Amino acid sequence: MRVAPSILSADFSRLKEEIDTVKAAEWLHIDIMDGHFVPNLTIGPAVVKAMRPHSKQIFDTHLMLANPEAYFDAFIDAGSDHITFHIEAVDDVFRAIDTLHGKGVKAGLSLKPKTPVADLHPYLAKIDLVLVMSVEPGFGGQSFMHESLPKIRELKEWKEKRGYDYDIVVDGGINKETARLCKEAGADVLVAGSFIFRSKNRESRITEVRS
Ligand code: DX5
Ligand code: ZN
Repeated sequence: MRVAPSILSADFSRLKEEIDTVKAAEWLHIDIMDGHFVPNLTIGPAVVKAMRPHSKQIFDTHLMLANPEAYFDAFIDAGSDHITFHIEAVDDVFRAIDTLHGKGVKAGLSLKPKTPVADLHPYLAKIDLVLVMSVEPGFGGQSFMHESLPKIRELKEWKEKRGYDYDIVVDGGINKETARLCKEAGADVLVAGSFIFRSKNRESRITEVRS
């Protein structure tokens, strides 16, 4: 199990120090929101670029944008290793995946809680990760939606039956208990924002999510 602390819950006035406290995690999850696709705004590529020299972690950028393809280049140039976009926001999903692969980054596909896994089926052979939203995207600190567990199981089954190799990543409401449920369901990577950053002992929180 790998862990991706979500910097959405970090103290943005001390981002460099905050990043230092979660170095034990494999990935850093970066939430990008536009106020259209979700009712909230966060950071842009300039902040991602400013963070880049302060971490060797994989920058796992989650675009919650109405027109994500228009911003691929900006977030790749800023230092993203993964770009995850929402299936609900893109017309030509194959083109978007090919664009990302052509630029040398990993392509992730995310789905909101109400979007069925079946919508992802045509793309599962091509993508590097699936980001299952276990809360409505837009805000940190929400409660885990248990309806996401059958989706994780379904993605795990598809992966095993067909020999696909995407990572199953779960985002929203992760704590020690929900991490265990996601792990049992077949998750590979867990995103955790408030559970990690609202604690003084981040390393132990990372360990709790991982184990
Ligand atoms: C929500 C974001 C999440 C968020 C998770 O739209 O995509 O990454 O930071 O926060 P917690 O772990 O607090 O639910
Ligand atoms: Zn996210």
